[in-house]
Amino acid sequence: MSATTFDAAYWSARYAAGRDQWDAGTVTEPLRAYFAQLGPADARRILIPGAGRAYEAEYLHRAGFSEVYVADIAPEALGALQQRVPDFPAEHLLLQDFFALRGPYDLIVEQTFFCALDPKLRPRYAKQCAHLLRPGGKLVGLLFEGQVGPGNEPPFGGTRKEYRRYFEPYFDFVHFDAAYNSIKPRADRELFICLQKKADVVA
Ligand SMILES: C[S@@+](CC[C@H](N)C(=O)[O-])C[C@H]1O[C@@H](n2cnc3c(N)ncnc32)[C@H](O)[C@@H]1O
Repeated sequence: MSATTFDAAYWSARYAAGRDQWDAGTVTEPLRAYFAQLGPADARRILIPGAGRAYEAEYLHRAGFSEVYVADIAPEALGALQQRVPDFPAEHLLLQDFFALRGPYDLIVEQTFFCALDPKLRPRYAKQCAHLLRPGGKLVGLLFEGQVGPGNEPPFGGTRKEYRRYFEPYFDFVHFDAAYNSIKPRADRELFICLQKKADVVA
């Protein structure tokens, strides 16, 4: 059973009803730019939790990264990736609750997953990311800044000050600032984050 109020049935119903406004239909520019500077493709272990239709996983897979994993509680999401990219390794499709995943990973990619969780789970999200990463591993991606959504269901926004509180116990802040290259509908509403797991942290 999911640890979230917004469980698998909730997300499956949103996919079925086409209430998937988060779906950018392609890899988003901030993440594409980040991936482009990673250097040659390698076997680092990359996790995309709450991956949805997982265009970022498709991008990394096609670029030659061989250890890309996607996790989602909604079968529709993983099914969409499998259909688009039949050679994506089936064993890298994790139909699992993020909070039940096991690591280790070198990189976790965040995009509209943190905002999809009940905000009371945010401290656990930060701890679980730290738990899943090797020391020195990174959590990289985008967080909404300010109010987004209706308030009673995802997406949920927040503030830099609030976010810092969750991540500071486990991570060094390599980058934590307004994104300059957000996709248009998210312009001026996103932080780009690159948080590195502290060497001495036990999570
Ligand atoms: C707002 S969508 C974002 C999808 C994707 N990241 C994107 O940018 O298109 C949130 C996704 O998280 C998934 N999800 C929600 N709670 C989850 C959990 N506890 N564990 C794994 N996936 C979860 C949902 O099924 C949904 O596909």
